[in-house]
Amino acid sequence: MAFRGVTLMVSKGRRLLAAMILAGLGPVAPHLAADNCDIDRGARLFAKCAMCHPRDETGVSGAGPNLAGIIGRTIADADGFPYSVAMSGMDGIWTPERLDAFLAAPMAYIPGTTMGFGGLRNPADRENLLCYLASEQ
Ligand code: HEC
Repeated sequence: MAFRGVTLMVSKGRRLLAAMILAGLGPVAPHLAADNCDIDRGARLFAKCAMCHPRDETGVSGAGPNLAGIIGRTIADADGFPYSVAMSGMDGIWTPERLDAFLAAPMAYIPGTTMGFGGLRNPADRENLLCYLASEQ
């Protein structure tokens, strides 16, 4: 985000890429299929997450697991992160639909999760955030 001008210039390409990644993951929630999501808004929203979640190629976690490549990743699979029993007991991968439901209300979706975050109520916020998570940073 340091090179804001560059970000703006390439943002259309990144949006396309994110849409392609989301589309490639099979059934996508209808509101995620649109390619009109705003990655830059998503990046700003990620500030709420970044205090706990690194998202980079080091793979190193913080108070929350590293979220690099989280869409399509096995649930509770960050190296060495001490997940709750509730989250590590979940099978499968983080599809866009599952992330959407989890981020709307983390503690309702996974009772017993230790993620201390109330959730993002606004579906457009979740959509933009998911586009950002599907993008290359
Ligand atoms: C206060 C710290 C905190 C905040 C803020 C937070 N999280 Fe988390 N997050 C955690 C913790 C801790 C876990 C592990 C939860 C568990 O083991 O039950 C987690 C787990 C997750 C997972 C599952 C990761 C995996 O490896 O399966 C995702 C996805 C996630 N968070 C996304 C987000 C997003 C997106 C935001 C911002 C909207 C956010 N979190 C905000 C602490 C946080």
